[in-house]
Amino acid sequence: MDASIPETVGATSTTKQASTPSGVEIKPRNRSHDIAAALQQDWLDDNAFLTAVFNGMSITFPAGEKFFIDSVRHYRQDITDPVLQEHVRGFCGQEGFHRREHQIYNETLCAARGYDLQKLEGKLTRRLAWAQKNLSPIQNLAITVAIEHFTAVLSELLLSSDSVMDKAHSSMRELWRWHAAEEMEHKSVAFDVFLAVGGTEKLRIFVMRRATFLIALELTRALIYILRKDGKLFNLKLWFKGLAGLFGKQGAFSGGLQPYKEFYTEGFHPWQQDTRHLLTEWASEDAIEFA
Ligand SMILES: [Fe+2]
Ligand SMILES: [Fe+2]
Repeated sequence: MDASIPETVGATSTTKQASTPSGVEIKPRNRSHDIAAALQQDWLDDNAFLTAVFNGMSITFPAGEKFFIDSVRHYRQDITDPVLQEHVRGFCGQEGFHRREHQIYNETLCAARGYDLQKLEGKLTRRLAWAQKNLSPIQNLAITVAIEHFTAVLSELLLSSDSVMDKAHSSMRELWRWHAAEEMEHKSVAFDVFLAVGGTEKLRIFVMRRATFLIALELTRALIYILRKDGKLFNLKLWFKGLAGLFGKQGAFSGGLQPYKEFYTEGFHPWQQDTRHLLTEWASEDAIEFA
């Protein structure tokens, strides 16, 4: 890991609140994805378990991303750095497009495979509505900062050269890597706003412990629902192979533990992990696909 934080762009030193490194543009790309055919299949490595894990993640995105936008937007009047204000606009634009595309993804998936979307996402939607009603704005922003770290770690895995997405249907690979690239571009925006409005390290870490538990709970719930509907819940061989595919030696998530743990260190910053090379690689591949 590169412990130094890359050089940032920003306003004068007294007002600077943005920390996204120079050369990283937080650019909302209004993309649509032709994924209907892929969603009818086990689109990831022809593996029902891995496919269910990623489909389950997608189910949580629209409600989650609305929550992120709301919690960051709440503070937009308090941001004095015009660069960070611009980053917040980029953040909200990117999350807005992600939300739309994953809503289409989820509706198409559920229609194709007979899942009940309301049942799948209802609990999370109610949980987030409860948080908005009962927690303070800074606590909700801390939840956003914590989950944005999860998405940043996942993005790093999905954009790496040995990513599990290389085993995905091409249209799904394109969608997940587009989302991952934009998550990486804006990975410090909620964090910067959190610091700018007085969020503390203690709160950030406290919230991450609870967010980790709730994310694991939500994803497990979605996985169990999907596998039950697919008639594969008690297929132990599938579970064994699937868990190895996630956490085994070259599993989809196996490189994520260390960067996840960095969040708990004092003085953590999302860009201490300099991932700009992954954005450059993605951009050159994307430029060919969208030429
Ligand atoms: Fe997103
Ligand atoms: Fe995000």
